Amino acid sequence: MARISLLANLLAFAATAYAQCGAGSPEATVGGSSGNYVATANGGQVYAGSDYRLAIQTAIDSISAGQRVSVLASGSIGASSIDISSGKTFEVCGTLDVGFNNARGAIRSRDTSDVSIPYLTMTGNPYFGMQFYGTSNLHLGEIVMNLSGGIGIRFDRDAASNSDVSMDSIRVTGAGSHAVETFNIDGLSIGEVIATNCGESGLLIQTSTNVQVGYVEGNNVGSGTGYATLRFANNNGQLVDGSYNTNVYVDRVVSRGGGRGVFCVSQSGGAEIGYVDLADNGNNAVLIENCYNLSILGGTVSGGGEVRIAARDEFPNTRDVSITLRVDGTTVRESPCGENISWNLSGNGARNIC
Ligand SMILES: *[C@@H]1O[C@H](CO)[C@@H](O)[C@H](O)[C@H]1NC(C)=O
Ligand SMILES: *[C@@H]1O[C@H](CO)[C@@H](O)[C@H](O)[C@H]1NC(C)=O
Ligand SMILES: *[C@@H]1O[C@H](CO)[C@@H](O)[C@H](O)[C@H]1NC(C)=O
Ligand SMILES: *[C@@H]1O[C@H](CO)[C@@H](O)[C@H](O)[C@H]1NC(C)=O
Repeated sequence: MARISLLANLLAFAATAYAQCGAGSPEATVGGSSGNYVATANGGQVYAGSDYRLAIQTAIDSISAGQRVSVLASGSIGASSIDISSGKTFEVCGTLDVGFNNARGAIRSRDTSDVSIPYLTMTGNPYFGMQFYGTSNLHLGEIVMNLSGGIGIRFDRDAASNSDVSMDSIRVTGAGSHAVETFNIDGLSIGEVIATNCGESGLLIQTSTNVQVGYVEGNNVGSGTGYATLRFANNNGQLVDGSYNTNVYVDRVVSRGGGRGVFCVSQSGGAEIGYVDLADNGNNAVLIENCYNLSILGGTVSGGGEVRIAARDEFPNTRDVSITLRVDGTTVRESPCGENISWNLSGNGARNIC
């Protein structure tokens, strides 16, 4: 059911999204250039001046739900934030540069419904590039973040939960921490996350259910850390009734270098990963630790750290795991022995399994 309604949402968005940023007739625009920005909304000028952030925020605050702001100009908002309220579509066709606004997102939408950000290109060193909580029916389209630090996209941990979030294509380079970090989402659909040279995870999904992800790619992500190109943590995939019936589906994961490839930890699970292609990961290519009902249906591991099933004492042992994998040039280890573990391995990697 959840999978069908997510697909319906995606199709609904596809019908209303414009093929190009700024196409059609946006109700509000921000134009001009450094020192001289002009915002118009519904036929009138609402801002003229040198403050890029104020031009954008004024345009957003001047439209109604169901309307769109297209930011045609490039500029810097410095160490500040832009807030998007319910029902509004916000797109940046230029390049939005951001600064470090401690504990805050450069772009935020909090306790809102039906917000859409079809296009955004961001540069700079934010605390969070984008920050969300308490959203429903949030849509992120083509998002490019070329950062020099911070977290790319963050859904907050200690805040209201989210439902029906969709993302089409998220490309993040240079985040100091995670490219995309989610907490508290029921109904998450992602086309692709491509993370390059990021300090911690590529896609980190936590405390979320009914998740569908097409493709995750990590290139040199989490180098020297225990983070991973794809990481499930903090009871991710555990349903409200406490069970781990499969509700997290990831089609494909590709990881090169960096820290870990795929990591499921801290009572997460209920997940099926269709295919993995992991090479030269500096930490475990795959680590499954206190994780329940996880399947990897196929793929390859070439070199890098070992494929490992593990468990810490603080949580129940790892159980109900099924792995089909070709492993070459690194080892496979199950320690301690999990419960109801099914291995279907090929390749030359040495095995130490139960
Ligand atoms: C962002 O990075 C990508 C990949 O390196 C590059 O192709 C693109 O031109 C960059 N865009 C900006 C605005 O920095
Ligand atoms: C794992 O998920 C599948 C599919 O939802 C379900 O049939 C099975 O009962 C689950 N097993 C456990 C042990 O949670
Ligand atoms: C054993 O694990 C598989 C997943 O690999 C799961 O679908 C199945 O329900 C588990 N069996 C039992 C008896 O829990
Ligand atoms: C085991 O893996 C092979 C591919 O290496 C695959 O053809 C086969 O179907 C798998 N068996 C099971 C029981 O999953």
